[in-house]
Amino acid sequence: MSQTYDLILRNGIVVTPNGTERTDIAVADGRIRAIGGLERASAAEEQDLRGLTVLPGVIDTQVHFREPGLEHKEDLASGTAGAAKGGVVAIFEMPNTKPSTTTADAINDKLARAKGRAWVDHAFFIGAAADNVAHLAEWERMPGCAGIKVFMGSSTGSLLVADDETLAAVLAQGWRRVAVHCEDEGRLAERKHLAVEAAHPRAHHQWRDAETALLATQRLVRLAEAARRRVHVLHVTTAEEMEFLAGHKDLATVETTPQHLTLAAPDCYERLGTLAQMNPPIREARHREALWAAIASGVVDVLGSDHAPHTLEEKGQPYPQSPSGMTGVQTLVPLMLDHVNHGRLSLERLVDLTSAGPARIYNIAGKGRIALGYDADFTVVDMRAERTITNDWIESRCGWTPFDGKTVTGWPVATIVRGRTVMREGQLLGAPVGEPVRFQESR
Ligand code: DOR
Repeated sequence: MSQTYDLILRNGIVVTPNGTERTDIAVADGRIRAIGGLERASAAEEQDLRGLTVLPGVIDTQVHFREPGLEHKEDLASGTAGAAKGGVVAIFEMPNTKPSTTTADAINDKLARAKGRAWVDHAFFIGAAADNVAHLAEWERMPGCAGIKVFMGSSTGSLLVADDETLAAVLAQGWRRVAVHCEDEGRLAERKHLAVEAAHPRAHHQWRDAETALLATQRLVRLAEAARRRVHVLHVTTAEEMEFLAGHKDLATVETTPQHLTLAAPDCYERLGTLAQMNPPIREARHREALWAAIASGVVDVLGSDHAPHTLEEKGQPYPQSPSGMTGVQTLVPLMLDHVNHGRLSLERLVDLTSAGPARIYNIAGKGRIALGYDADFTVVDMRAERTITNDWIESRCGWTPFDGKTVTGWPVATIVRGRTVMREGQLLGAPVGEPVRFQESR
């Protein structure tokens, strides 16, 4: 008997847990219901994806979307529109908004704001601070909360857990994996004069040097071991941290970013000025090569874009008053497909880093693989399309990317969120359908 579904994707090259094969996928009620030759089945909507590749939906587990309080840089509508255009089906958003996301009310406020305005699925981190430690165990398990985020070094905003005592107290509260920005605040303060004296972003990676990152990562892992708490080290940028973290894979998962895999100092600062300024910094090529080695050896678990928009006017302030951060949610997939096409990693490893990895480390319910019963989230890509990344294409309210003018091979051509196509050929379709991401450890 032929069966009827809501959607059938036909003839795509599909990356499944079994390997990469040409097959069909059927969807009903937002979930994957059948995979295989579905010639006899029909659906309300059918898409012929001949020549295209179907990946499990890409999940970007580190973005800053600035709402509430800094909507002149970005908001949940523009940020998630950029995600959809870039082939990203879900985002985890960081707590350094204004006010900081440090209470249950603030998480609920973000969830309410996202309702009906977010183009993709979403979850929000709760920021750890000295005054909310006692509540973290309860709040980290709220529906729609991605977990706890700690800033060990100051960056954009005022969130900071600089001392070991408070950090140990945070790690003692709760069970879920804690995501941490590792730069040592004491060393940052001691060396700030280097940035002030140089008055040029080429000093950024000398001020916030490799030792600054390594010191914080080592302190974190030592305290996490004592607390027996799982941690996730965000945007790892140095060879030394990768070597250290390879020895602590039982406890610590590892993120790196497409921009740290693509750009290098000093060239990026000479070419892009403050547009290349972010924390932790883009470093010399020797570190970039170590990040690639850590991708190859399996030390890296996940890629996050650290999408952190600031307006061009803000970026135009003299360094180091200029804010740190660059856009990235929309360029993650194109940049990484280009790296796949250049033979730097396999398509299957990319899926491991952008779908399976996020699901595994954060215990996401029902996302991250193309398998029966999972959410029908797909990033459909044309591996042969040659396109140029331009500022015009960027949905972010700040309207720029450090990759303006870069030609890449491989491009996201459709984004499907729980069975609904929210982007096709660069156009947003329908209405924003994003919902909170579900977690196995939520209440
Ligand atoms: O460069 C950065 N910008 N690093 C961060 O940790 C924060 C981010 C932002 O929010 O601007």
